[in-house]
Parts: sequence; C-alpha cells; structure tokens
Amino acid sequence: MDYFVIRGGKPLQGRVAISGAKNAALPILAASLLTSETLRVSNVPHLNDVTTMIELLGALGVEAAVDESGVLCISAEHLNSRRAPYELVKTMRASILVMGPLLARFGRAEVSFPGGCAIGSRPVDLHLKGFEAMGAQIDVRDGYIVATTEDGLRGCDFTFETVTVGGTENLLMAAALADGETILRNVAREPEITDLVKFLRSMGAVISGDDSDTLTIQGVSTLHSCQYTVMPDRIEAGTYLVAAAATRGCITVDGADAEHLGLVLDKLREAGVDVQVEGTCIKADMRGKRPRAVNITTAPYPGFPTDMQAQFTALNLFADGVARITETIFENRLIHAQEMSRMGANIAIDGHSVIIQGQEEVRGAPVMASDLRASASLVIAGLAAQGETRVDRIYHIDRGYERIEEKLQSVGADIVRKMR
Ligand code: UD1
Repeated sequence: MDYFVIRGGKPLQGRVAISGAKNAALPILAASLLTSETLRVSNVPHLNDVTTMIELLGALGVEAAVDESGVLCISAEHLNSRRAPYELVKTMRASILVMGPLLARFGRAEVSFPGGCAIGSRPVDLHLKGFEAMGAQIDVRDGYIVATTEDGLRGCDFTFETVTVGGTENLLMAAALADGETILRNVAREPEITDLVKFLRSMGAVISGDDSDTLTIQGVSTLHSCQYTVMPDRIEAGTYLVAAAATRGCITVDGADAEHLGLVLDKLREAGVDVQVEGTCIKADMRGKRPRAVNITTAPYPGFPTDMQAQFTALNLFADGVARITETIFENRLIHAQEMSRMGANIAIDGHSVIIQGQEEVRGAPVMASDLRASASLVIAGLAAQGETRVDRIYHIDRGYERIEEKLQSVGADIVRKMR
C-alpha cells in the first residue's frame, strides 16, 4: 500500500494547473448511458474514481477510448447488462449515478448498495423515493437495488427532504428521458449540478431553473451526441490555496473558476491571506504571515463546502487563535481531527464540531488517511508541520487528486510516494 513521506516546514511557492472536476466528471460519464450516440468529453481528470466509473460503464457494455487529443470518446450503443456489480460499486458511492440513466433508457437498473468514503451513513433513500415518484418499482434482492418500470418513467413533482447532490443528479438524468414534465424542488445547487445541466442540454435535454432550488425538466424521447469540457475542480483548487496559506507560501492556481469558490476565498481572506483573482488564475499569498483562526460551518452550496472542511481544519492548527469547525452535512467527517492530535495539535471534538487552539509549531507524525478530503488535510498538515510526517492509506487521495505529489513537488514541497 502506498504512503507519503513529507518533510514539512517549507513555504510552498509557484503555480499549479487545476484538473477537471471529479464530481462533475462522474455524473457526466454516467449520463453517457442516456444515448446510443458517441459523446466526446474533454478535461476528464485522471483519477481512480474516474477509472472506476469507466470500468463500471464497461461492465454494462459501454465503450470508452481516449483519442490522440486526450478527448474521452464514449458510446453506450451496445449495452449487454443493466447490473452495476458489487465489486465496483463498493469502492465508489457515485456508482449509484448509473441508476437514473439505466432506468430512463432501458426501464431496468440493478445497482449494488453503494460504498465509498467512510464518512457516516450515506443513504440513497431520496434517490429511490424520486424514482418511485416517477413510476419505478424498487426492490432489494441479494444486496442489489433493483429498479424497474413497465411502461417508462413519467414526469412528476418531487421535493427532496434533504438537499442531496447525487440525488439531484440521478433524478435530473432520469427526468431528461421521462414522459412529460418533471419538477424537482429543493435541489442541490453545487456548480457540478450546473455542469451536468449544461452537459445534458448539449445532448438535447430541456431543463430550466438554473441557479434556483427548483429544476424543471421537459422529458424528450431521445438524446444525442455532443462535445463537452468538464469544469475545473473547485475543491482541488481550494486545497492548493489552503496549502499555500498553511505553509505561509504563495501559490497561484491556473485554470480555476473563482465564482465557484466564493466562501472559500472569503475564509482565506479572513485568515489573512492576500487573495487575488485574475481571469482563471487565483493567487493566495501568505508570505511571512501566520494565519488567523477562522470558524467554519459547512452547508450546501452556496454555503461552505463540506469537501473543504478538513483542509481548513489543517490550516487552523497553525493559526493564531481558537477556531470552531462545524460539520453539518455528514455524520462522521471529523476523523482527521484524531489523526491531527498525533501531531501534537491542540484539537478536541465536540459533537459535530472540532475546536482547535492554533499553535505556532506542530510536529510531524505518522498519520492515517480515513477518506479523500481527510487525506488532503493530513498532507497539508504535514507540509506545514516541522519534521517528518508519514501519511498512510493514500489510496483515498488517489481517488480525487490528480498527480498530487507531482503538483506539490512543483511548488517546492518535499513529498515522496513510497510503497510498503
Ligand atoms: C456529493 C459529492 C461529495 C460531497 C457531497 C456533499 C460527488 C461524487 N460527491 O456526495 O464529494 O461531499 O456531495 O457536497 O459528487 N442523503 C440522504 N439520502 C439520500 C442522499 C443523501 O439522507 O438519498 C444525505 C447524506 O447522508 C448526507 C447529505 O444527504 O448527509 C448530503 O449527501 P449528498 O449531497 O447526497 O452527497 P453525495 O452526492 O453522496
């Protein structure tokens, strides 16, 4: 199993190119099931989760190939299965996203109960309630969710009890091919949803309600081929900007979209970072300054993203003052706090919050990654700490950060990947 060895305490300086967004690419790839025509998708990041999604689609019969210009060409013309197998689904929760498209186009989907990051119980009940509202029948057989419809999905008026990103995406894709109008209320508004809406539109879907909490979809009978470029990864960009702040360095991320990072940039500024935006470049300059403590409460977009919570916890370890970080989206997403206390951090868990008394200096230590964003936070902590940090179980980080150690090395980090 791979691990990182980090020798910390060096301010990071330089430029980092931002990859395509994992959380936009995954639903877009799943949406390829909606048409028999070939789709051409650019800026798909090279990540283990993307590979898993392509393998999963391959298990259904989808053909995918990268052309000479790096564009992913994907065709769901000849499907031979409607079953998303346990072996693949258990490694990635986003596998559930094939359910809506399969059900809408073929009237049947079988998906093993999803796995993914261990960040609390993450049910898919709202996805299933939505499919039922569209006329699907849902059964559970041998650990598989089996969704069927005899005469196709029909439009409905559905309100999500809780804001769910994956649930919104799944129902949106299903509704694109359903009979009649679907109104989805209390939908997630994350930029990745907007990216999926744009992608579906370029396939011929009829969707309105952008930037609101209600999406209206007029179902069409078929969707067609398109070319699309996946949006930049706002969480990857945010992670490098926090790494600059924690190490008292200066990093410019290239190819990012500052509009997607509103509260994240506000919180960096509150921490004392000089943040400058110029086109698609965002510069975070913290040279010679110690960060100030910042409180964070996660919330659905446009609130503060849960996927940036752990990284800001790491930043606060080194800050002047006391910070409270409150996680409201997931039940069990504070495991990194325990690992950080191994580094001598003054950090305590209080229900759904962590309270951090920042210290001028934190010492490196062996730590273990528990999920994707927790691993990024431990890497940031290691980069800013004095001495050596070893981060184990980095397979989590490889799910969502493209070539992270190369990108960090290019801005001066002393980080190496080793194999046990
Ligand atoms: C997506 C992102 C993940 C991010 C999360 C929240 C992808 C591939 N992953 O995950 O990085 O952290 O959004 O921004 O895009 N819930 C239910 N019932 C459901 C569905 C969700 O109770 O049927 C609950 C979940 O347990 C959680 C909350 O709703 O407490 C939000 O989850 P959701 O938005 O669905 O997260 P994901 O789509 O899994």
